[in-house]
Amino acid sequence: MENKTKVIKGVCAAVAVIVAVVFVGGVLGGGDMMYHILNRGSLGPLTREDVTYKNVAAPEATSKDGTVNASDWAETYPYIVASMGANSKNSYVTSYLEEDPYLVNIYEGYGFAKDYGSARGHEYTLEDVHKTLRPHAKANCLTCKTPNFAKLVNDLGVEVYSMPFEEVEAMMEENVSCYTCHGNDAGNAGQITITHSYVNEALGSNAAKIDPATLSCGQCHIEYYFTPTYSETMMPYHSVSEMTPEAIYNYYNTMVLPDGTVGFADWTQPSTGTRLLKAQHPEMETFLSGKHGKLLNCADCHMALVMEDDGTVYHSHELVSPLENETLLSNCATCHEGTDVVSMVRRLQDRVTSREKEVGNELSDFKTALADAVASGTKTEEELDALRAIHREAQWYFDFCYVENSEGAHNSDLAFSCLDRAEELVREGMELLG
Ligand code: HEC
Ligand code: HEC
Ligand code: HEC
Ligand code: HEC
Repeated sequence: MENKTKVIKGVCAAVAVIVAVVFVGGVLGGGDMMYHILNRGSLGPLTREDVTYKNVAAPEATSKDGTVNASDWAETYPYIVASMGANSKNSYVTSYLEEDPYLVNIYEGYGFAKDYGSARGHEYTLEDVHKTLRPHAKANCLTCKTPNFAKLVNDLGVEVYSMPFEEVEAMMEENVSCYTCHGNDAGNAGQITITHSYVNEALGSNAAKIDPATLSCGQCHIEYYFTPTYSETMMPYHSVSEMTPEAIYNYYNTMVLPDGTVGFADWTQPSTGTRLLKAQHPEMETFLSGKHGKLLNCADCHMALVMEDDGTVYHSHELVSPLENETLLSNCATCHEGTDVVSMVRRLQDRVTSREKEVGNELSDFKTALADAVASGTKTEEELDALRAIHREAQWYFDFCYVENSEGAHNSDLAFSCLDRAEELVREGMELLG
């Protein structure tokens, strides 16, 4: 009996202490602290509603061009700045040319046949564009590497794209950074600012139909080309519904060039004479038409929400694979409960990459056979042109899948349909070659 009273007293005292701590924490620390105390390790994943937003004036810009840079923000947003710096941890590069030797053959005559490594973290963009063995005469290669280039275009106009690479490179100060996605307003209330002017030029009012936390990445993780007149970076569509490989192929095929001819090409391949296209990295296009396209944005899967010991909740700006981050993985479970999503994704990726190797080698064999036909003079120019049209289209569909960085995880249906289409065309071409 006595013992029981003691226990009840003890429980009452403990409850009183908890209530007091929560109350004091709430009063002193505001809502965030209250949240922190109530939820530590118990209520599961954080959401955007939990983010600690500030309403601050931008600090004074210290960069020569007037961009507020990461170190300018370090005092206000120490955790965000540090998390962005952590992108240096993603430093590993593999050579695609060693992994898939057939690429050297299919990209013959283009820079990618000389040097083609996998992508790595944002902290390496300037170093990697400096080191690449691919030729880069013009400054347009800097478009997706640094906010200082976007600022230069915003200040001086599209003439900047065709300035000499080295001259402009010398003015660049930062890798992908705050200005890229927030302008100089940096994130009050999570505000995103699209600073790459071609996004607004290509999409116009349709830009507003894409979630800013997707479109901020879609300033670079997209298919693009350089306009023949100004060498300006440009997206080959004006709306989300035109972001398919079919519509983009049609856009390139019907483009009128400055000399009056029709049909854009990145290069003409010496041995086959085919005017070929090089796809870039259509992550946004692929993701938007996939199964998550209308449900999630890029940040949902690549920027984990973090709570620090002082209660601050923010989006980590270290852009990671969701499969390697516990918090992001726990988000998957809200819709994929009971599924081992890691093995689901790895299985999909294995199927996509092995199919890529299969179709890539078939495409390479077709390219060699076409080059032989050109060299031997056994076909008429008309027959060769029909074969080149097939070659151009097959390579486009193959490339659209190959260069997308998720290896099928963003949209496996699209990956397989591109590879199937490429294979179908290759077979058609092989039959014509006899
Ligand atoms: C590649 C694009 C990108 C870069 C670079 C970037 N941010 Fe963000 N930032 C985002 C996205 C996306 C969000 C999340 C918006 C959302 O979905 O709520 C965000 C959110 C924020 C927020 C709102 C609070 C939060 O955590 O959601 C702040 C503040 C912020 N960023 C500051 C910065 C600062 C400072 C830098 C530079 C050190 C920076 N960002 C660099 C894309 C970027
Ligand atoms: C200003 C252009 C730009 C923007 C905006 C941008 N990226 Fe990137 N991103 C790059 C470039 C360029 C690389 C490759 C860097 C290298 O290899 O040197 C890259 C690499 C990456 C990687 C590493 C890829 C790998 O294979 O390891 C991830 C992940 C990534 N970005 C995700 C994002 C997400 C998510 C967003 C939006 C929040 C975003 N990026 C916005 C240009 C950009
Ligand atoms: C449903 C979650 C989800 C969304 C939303 C999402 N991705 Fe991914 N993404 C993944 C997965 C899963 C992978 C494969 C990761 C791996 O192989 O470890 C991946 C891979 C990548 C990669 C290759 C780098 C890496 O870590 O493997 C890049 C770059 C990338 N995504 C960018 C984006 C961009 C840009 C967007 C928005 C347009 C986006 N992702 C939207 C799930 C997502
Ligand atoms: C908002 C709900 C939601 C969340 C969160 C979500 N998914 Fe999905 N996911 C879906 C739906 C719906 C499908 C389509 C299911 C189907 O077709 O059977 C899907 C399909 C997939 C597919 C197959 C895609 C394809 O193209 O074949 C993969 C892989 C996947 N999810 C991985 C993930 C990963 C990894 C995460 C977390 C990083 C995640 N999902 C988070 C709703 C979600």
